Amino acid sequence: MPKTKKNKKTILTKSNKFDLLKSVKGMPDILPKDGAWWKSIIQTGQSVSELHDFHFIETPILEPATLFELAVGASTDIIEKEMYVFKTKGGDRVALRPEGTAPVVRSYIEHHLGYFASPLKVYYYGPMFRYGRPQAGRERQFHQFGFEILSDNDPVYDGEIILVALEFLKSLKFKNLSLKINTIGCKICRSNYREKLRKYYQDIKSKLCCDCERRLEKNPFRLLDCKNENCMPLRNNAPIILDYLCQNCNNHFKTVLELIEDNNISYEPDPYLVRGLDYYNRTVFEIYSLDFKWALAGGGRYDYLSEMLGGRCIPGVGVAIGIERLIETMKLQQMTPHLKLKPRLLFAAVGDQAKKASLRLMNELRSNGIVVIEALGKKSLRAQMKIADKFKVPLVLIFGQKEFFEKTIIVRDMKTGAQESIILSKLVEEVKKRIK
Ligand code: HAM
Repeated sequence: MPKTKKNKKTILTKSNKFDLLKSVKGMPDILPKDGAWWKSIIQTGQSVSELHDFHFIETPILEPATLFELAVGASTDIIEKEMYVFKTKGGDRVALRPEGTAPVVRSYIEHHLGYFASPLKVYYYGPMFRYGRPQAGRERQFHQFGFEILSDNDPVYDGEIILVALEFLKSLKFKNLSLKINTIGCKICRSNYREKLRKYYQDIKSKLCCDCERRLEKNPFRLLDCKNENCMPLRNNAPIILDYLCQNCNNHFKTVLELIEDNNISYEPDPYLVRGLDYYNRTVFEIYSLDFKWALAGGGRYDYLSEMLGGRCIPGVGVAIGIERLIETMKLQQMTPHLKLKPRLLFAAVGDQAKKASLRLMNELRSNGIVVIEALGKKSLRAQMKIADKFKVPLVLIFGQKEFFEKTIIVRDMKTGAQESIILSKLVEEVKKRIK
């Protein structure tokens, strides 16, 4: 192949060789040492979902970029600065999903999911992508566990979404949680409030950061969410939506608060909480752990989202929980992963024939629900026993040439050191007795 400029560029030099062996900035690997944390969170999320009757859904990581632009809002940080957008070889403009709600609503419309259940209650988990400045608690690739309830605007579902998120965190043994909650009204009451807000910020325009100055005309709500340290104190005197709520929104919010009080959930009303995505209306909320600065979870109601995407009116409410933030907080609080551990044993084999038969025997145990670990690549029994010590398994099965011919196997109790020989035809039964 002739050498073109393009080919030359791909030649490895010392410095790009080094970069090639590093994960992309802000997109860390999830390593085996953290496996227990991830498993514990996903397992807990799944069992909480099952208890609350949420069904699993998974949408693709790539979606048309316009989906998020319409849903999340062109003047939000996520769309203006953080979304990974690119053209495919076929020329389609796609985006790595920055969040999971818009894809769920897209899927609901595309597959008429209202026929499956009404309201539709779904949960999902997976990676999301936002090109922000990486720092503790803010990755460019992070994972969310989310819950959505679609096609009903009854406040009971706002209550249920808040409850399910808190149940999830409580099942992971989180304490000291705080729930910040607000309402941002509906189209009608919001238009009045928008004008008041615009007027308030217009009068102090010279003090605003460039982003806020630019967003003032189009979307003054975004100014309440600005994280610039000069802008943040300015909102303290801003008008609040509660003074402009219509009767329906007022009643809706009142009922949501009554529901959470009924469930003994303490909360902190935050009249300036608007959230960083434009699709919300009425209830918005965030959940914090007292010793971590970032929100663990965020959510709210999005009754207009489907219409913003060109569908019919499909009200919805949901929440997403950041898995990396959960793990970080759990580690800070010196918590341990909350796992239902299956009984484990190590299978050790010595000699060629014994080793060959091992795979079949291990499979027999595994298909009976017994977790078997092995280090059959290590030749000596001593080296294999070291692995049993390292992973602290309670039981070791030792299968040598003698046992192979006698059709027996040795069971060693690692706590007492006692060993006994059992016949192979009773292997599963005998092992089950010992690892109850
Ligand atoms: P969000 O508040 O943007 O809401 O994200 C939800 C959660 O994802 C946050 O509370 C946080 O735990 C985690 N998170 C967000 N960005 C990052 C990041 N850069 N690094 C690490 N963790 C992060 C949503 O995404 C909405 N879709 C939630 C929702 C569902 N609303 C209704 N239904």
